[in-house]
Amino acid sequence: MTYNTLKIDNQDNIVIITLNRPKYLNAINSEMMEELMQLFTVDLAENSNISGVIITGEGDRAFVAGADISEFLDFKKETIEGFLRRGHDTFNAIENFPKPVIAAIHGFALGGGCELCMACHLRVATSQSKFGQPEVNLGIIPGYGGTQRLVQLIGKSKGLELLLTGEMIDAANALKMGLINYLVDPGTEIDRATELIKIISTKGPLAIAKIIATVNAQFDQNKNGYEEEINAFAQLVSTRDFSEGATAFLEKRKAIFTGE
Ligand code: COA
Repeated sequence: MTYNTLKIDNQDNIVIITLNRPKYLNAINSEMMEELMQLFTVDLAENSNISGVIITGEGDRAFVAGADISEFLDFKKETIEGFLRRGHDTFNAIENFPKPVIAAIHGFALGGGCELCMACHLRVATSQSKFGQPEVNLGIIPGYGGTQRLVQLIGKSKGLELLLTGEMIDAANALKMGLINYLVDPGTEIDRATELIKIISTKGPLAIAKIIATVNAQFDQNKNGYEEEINAFAQLVSTRDFSEGATAFLEKRKAIFTGE
């Protein structure tokens, strides 16, 4: 499929998605949301060769400056629920994607942009990045999971502070709070994200998928994360990757995982 709002690049099976509306600081409009949904649930999901995904923003000003506010005046009580559910479903698809998804952030990650990077598994940001959930300035609240994921990542105290004040924080503060994993020099964020995916791609891919699923189960009220862990472990012991991993360790060589 071709995309209007996204640029897709595949470098040695690492897919780099560039959110491509720089004139609007990469604000997420309905079209971009639909394209992200299609990408994560169909196009990438069907490609078993990829080892990970990096999401970044076009231009030097923003990862994403939020949902596209120019669409907001069309919001109506009767239709808003479907709009929000579509955003939730898309970000849930990213969060539950079985390969590592890393946000490479430079510039503003506000509102839906902060929510998008929080739906990724890891976050690498440059020193010039700014984070925040400014929705209260518009008289609304985050609508793509931000009230939940921000508190999961940085705790209730700081999470509530950011949500209630709508204030931005810089990358150093975001690192201190645990919102981002790495703070890097501008221009090196994709390199660092690539290095992380390369490290992860040397591990058993079935185990990586199970880690993502079991950690996410903790935040799913319909699941018991401890039970999910037991079930996931039990499934992994009958895989070829597990016997290869254990055998390689005992033979003092590097494991060659095939994902079987
Ligand atoms: N939705 C739609 N357009 C947006 C946008 C958004 N969330 N954020 C920025 N833009 C557009 C601006 O309207 C402007 O377009 P224009 O050149 O046609 O006027 C362009 O992107 C550049 O933004 P601008 O505001 O001129 O840049 P700035 O450097 O003065 O300010 C921000 C940068 C990020 C502080 C400011 O754009 C902003 O506050 N954006 C909204 C953030 C927000 O509230 N996000 C949550 C939405 S729920």
